[in-house]
Amino acid sequence: MLKKQLCFLLILQLCSVIQLKAQSKSAQGLKDYYKNYFPIGVAVSAHDIKDTAEANLILHEFNSLTPENAMKMGPIHPEENRYYWKDADAIVAFAQTNGLRVRGHNLCWHEQTPPWLFKGTDGKLVTKDVLLKRLKDHITTVVNRYKGKIYAWDVVNEAIDDDSTKFLRNSLWYQICGEDFIAKAFEYAHEADPKAVLFYNDYNTERTEKRERVYRLLKKLVDAGVPINGVGIQAHWSIDEPSQQDLIATIKKFSSLGLKVQVTELDISIYPWEKNKRALRPGEKDAYTPELEKKQDERYAEVFKIFREYKNVISGVTFWNISDKRTWLDDYPVAGRKNYPLLFDQQLQRKKAYWSVVDFKQ
Ligand code: GLA
Repeated sequence: MLKKQLCFLLILQLCSVIQLKAQSKSAQGLKDYYKNYFPIGVAVSAHDIKDTAEANLILHEFNSLTPENAMKMGPIHPEENRYYWKDADAIVAFAQTNGLRVRGHNLCWHEQTPPWLFKGTDGKLVTKDVLLKRLKDHITTVVNRYKGKIYAWDVVNEAIDDDSTKFLRNSLWYQICGEDFIAKAFEYAHEADPKAVLFYNDYNTERTEKRERVYRLLKKLVDAGVPINGVGIQAHWSIDEPSQQDLIATIKKFSSLGLKVQVTELDISIYPWEKNKRALRPGEKDAYTPELEKKQDERYAEVFKIFREYKNVISGVTFWNISDKRTWLDDYPVAGRKNYPLLFDQQLQRKKAYWSVVDFKQ
């Protein structure tokens, strides 16, 4: 009888120790596990921060915010003489109140541009002088408004062509200004806020051909004395890529220029990256299988191990969206194909991959 009671007591004690351990584990957020490494950020909308459950999760897990869309030129500057500040202001105010840092995103991009930007009242494309003046006005106004509240800016986004045989993207920026718009954007941003850390930001930077072309651009800018401080590796990855070697090669190559590296838009899709491969094929099931989950878990563990190893040059890691409840990948590249690329599930609970990411000696 006594033996039985003792056994029971022992089990009870063991349970409470396990519970305590679990509690102290979940009391920490990603930002706490990584406090000796780099800030951990997340891309948000003004709507996300109004939702209590999501706001709580943000505050528990992250210490940096990127406005997902609110500061892009189209949303924030819809007409030449009108800015729309409400959403961007709300995100910055939330960050200020709660002591989070903010990465501004972005000042010059070929997508999500306002309709007035490239054209005059006659409907024709504007001249280089006019476009650069518009760019300067835009950058000066936006950067000034958040001076001291935004510590880093993605100044130029995705200026390299998708065609590996070409260098710069043939965007309207490029057609009208030639490559000058890139250096000018950095100069205008630096003039507006000399303390802001300025980034060039792009995707697929781990692929050899893209890495070389991004490097060529960065080197040109650095050699010309353009005020650029860092490079954003967007990190819209998948369970199939990048390889460890390619990721390491990219971090090493970019940082060899004396630039800081930030992982700016991290998510790990359960589908391959190529648009045609990601589309649902006839007969194919669209499920987040345990096998896919395991692959994703391993991939997350692998890339974070590399991030930690390169903490001397990596100054931030940001996830693109909060949880699998809503991710831009649900509608990209095909609308309505659910994806599960993040560390929190659709109920905002931590996934297995979360525990792999924080499973290291702090
Ligand atoms: C790019 C942009 C981001 C965002 C994503 C998709 O990576 O830099 O701002 O638009 O595409 O959500």
